[in-house]
Amino acid sequence: MATFVSTRQNRGPAATWNDVLLCGYAPDGGLFVPASVPAIPLETLKTWKNLSHPEICKKILRCYFTEDELPHATFEETISKAFDSFAHPDVIPVVRAGHAHVAELFHGPTGSFKDVALSVYGKIVENHLETTRRRVTILNSTTGDTGSAAIRSVLGGTRVRIVVMYPAGKISDIQELQMATVDAPNVKVFRVDGTSDEIDGVVKTLFCDEEFGREQSLGSFSSINVGRLVCQIAHFFYIYLKTCVDVGDEVLVAIPTGGGGHIVTGTIATRMGLPLKFLLATNENDTATRAIEEGTIDTSGDIIPTYACAMDGNLPYNIERLLYFHSNDAGTIIRKQMSQLETTGGLELEQDQVQSLQSQIWSHSVSQENILETMRRYHADHAYLPCPHTATALYAMDRFLATPAAQKRLFPNGGPLPPIVCLATATPAKFPDVVEKAGLPVPRPESFAKLYHLPKKNRLLEREWVDSLKKAIREFDS
Ligand SMILES: Cc1ncc(COP(=O)(O)O)c(C=O)c1O
Repeated sequence: MATFVSTRQNRGPAATWNDVLLCGYAPDGGLFVPASVPAIPLETLKTWKNLSHPEICKKILRCYFTEDELPHATFEETISKAFDSFAHPDVIPVVRAGHAHVAELFHGPTGSFKDVALSVYGKIVENHLETTRRRVTILNSTTGDTGSAAIRSVLGGTRVRIVVMYPAGKISDIQELQMATVDAPNVKVFRVDGTSDEIDGVVKTLFCDEEFGREQSLGSFSSINVGRLVCQIAHFFYIYLKTCVDVGDEVLVAIPTGGGGHIVTGTIATRMGLPLKFLLATNENDTATRAIEEGTIDTSGDIIPTYACAMDGNLPYNIERLLYFHSNDAGTIIRKQMSQLETTGGLELEQDQVQSLQSQIWSHSVSQENILETMRRYHADHAYLPCPHTATALYAMDRFLATPAAQKRLFPNGGPLPPIVCLATATPAKFPDVVEKAGLPVPRPESFAKLYHLPKKNRLLEREWVDSLKKAIREFDS
């Protein structure tokens, strides 16, 4: 049975899957991580080479929970149906664009990678609540994509209610409309006059409010929840098996990074046996890049609005998990470091952490102009239109290919570079303004165009935000 511990490990015994299924933060304010990661032997991995994504999903998730936690028949049915609403039969098609293998994670109902994990996770949560006859309120801050995918995954559910908040004016029109036009009794959507970091802070305050926690059962579908990350592991295995030359050989994965959910999931996949290295791409909000390349975290600057708006934040909260996986005596170090980061907004990483991070990850921050230039170049040279987030990964890959020192750092033994997979995290159709700004033809799928004609049901979250949220959550019961 898989168990989970807090990154700060200073309170309580290991938690089970059912304990972490719905929670956000661990009781000590840390984030849950698997206590020990199940290893997949190379011989087993070889037998998975031609499996479909849903089949790999079943194999991976079975490593994390038991028959008691999710009975076999329910589990099979859940995964088999989870991807029915995806527009592509492969779920995650992998296409070529120049040097890159592009893993398109955006063929789900809301057009971003969040659909891949949440289509499974939403159903697992519903089954669990049905069995235990509980109800829960999912509380999510979003930079645009998690909100709509989370709502979609529980729409019409009777046991899950959901409250979503997003920073007003800082997400794309389509992202906003996908949430704001939802009219369902179990859904509330709030726009907030604040930054994504401020909204994350409000969510954290509510999760850490023990009294409110006793009154209301709260859960999260963002990547603070380890269950959501576990549901993302399968796509690293699928993508690896699709692109490796021989099973057992290395593959490099380029990841557009905001909150850091994917880089942590990829890191867990390496602990399970996948020979992966990573290119981490940030936009001009480059806290994660500076942490890896310079060993310094500084969250004091203002958030810069960028074309890759879903990655606009100063505090990639999953950095706590990333540091955990790159530290020896992890709990003690992380507890000390996070306490310093929370009080001062800054942190110098330990030399061992930096060395460990740099041996696995090369990171690059991508400017606004380079995002547009990359979209234009891939469209012109490879007939491929990436979304602005995906463009950051493609640009980082191109820089990596032009930087021998970076190649030597990740592959000190030399030899030909392994295949490079870029994660395509959203459809460009979600960001028509940016595509237009790049001077490119804007894809306008009917499913998005019709959103402009629907009435908006969202509200402004009044200050004090925490009190207003408590009121909104209690309203579900009145
Ligand atoms: C389109 C898109 N790309 C990338 C990201 C960054 O995600 P991660 O948490 O994996 O860094 C997000 C997250 O919100 C997103 O919506």
